[in-house]
Amino acid sequence: MRTILVLNAKGGSGKTTVATNLAGYYAREGAKVALVDFDPQASSLDWLSSRPAERPRIAAVEGFSKGIRVPRSSEVVVMDAPSRTHDDHLASLVRRAQTIVLPVVPSPIDIRAAQRFIGEIRKLRHVIKTEVKMATVANRVREGALIANELEDYLYDLKLPSGHKFPFLTMLRASTNYIRAAERGLSVFEFAPIATAADREHWSPLTRWLQSPRSIPRH
Ligand SMILES: Nc1ncnc2c1ncn2[C@@H]1O[C@H](COP(=O)(O)OP(=O)(O)OP(=O)(O)O)[C@@H](O)[C@H]1O
Ligand SMILES: [Mg+2]
Repeated sequence: MRTILVLNAKGGSGKTTVATNLAGYYAREGAKVALVDFDPQASSLDWLSSRPAERPRIAAVEGFSKGIRVPRSSEVVVMDAPSRTHDDHLASLVRRAQTIVLPVVPSPIDIRAAQRFIGEIRKLRHVIKTEVKMATVANRVREGALIANELEDYLYDLKLPSGHKFPFLTMLRASTNYIRAAERGLSVFEFAPIATAADREHWSPLTRWLQSPRSIPRH
């Protein structure tokens, strides 16, 4: 079972957008997908309830009440975390995942907050015990910034307090396609192939990494 947690302490960074689009991606690929919503706001579950019946099914799992039941047959489990997740709650979520995807709105304030949050996750390592792989994705990137490559240079030059590079994998643009997809219970992989072509291209470094052994901890 492939387990992917979409996580960031910061509200509105794009956790639900990334989680629902990833779930849609895997479902379209033919995988048996479960989407676990750990957020009592239940935005991922709302998305699933508007998903058309003729689309590949994604199992809805409520993760914010007691007794989380992920169908045993699930091949891919995508987990949508709430904002402001820290300490024990953070450790309990991270323990469930092989891989963390951390969406960050690339403003200096949000990037600093994300760096601190990554530091928090690293500090919990002795509590979590299991190994986890992590990638950062810039989300809601203004088209202008994408074209100018300024943002890419900025992100690429960033270093974590540990001296490591900020491990961003790709940049997702700010696009009404995500809003339209959210309204319809779809992912950008599932409608308007021409209008969403650029968005799907932005996703491909992430989906490739998620399918490679590099994103799965060795046991
Ligand atoms: N790339 C994008 N382009 C356009 N709109 C986006 C994009 N990503 C997210 N949004 C919009 O921004 C808002 C916040 O995104 P989202 O709900 O995914 O964030 P979140 O991290 O799950 O928020 P919360 O912390 O409240 O759970 C939503 O209205 C969503 O549709
Ligand atoms: Mg959310």
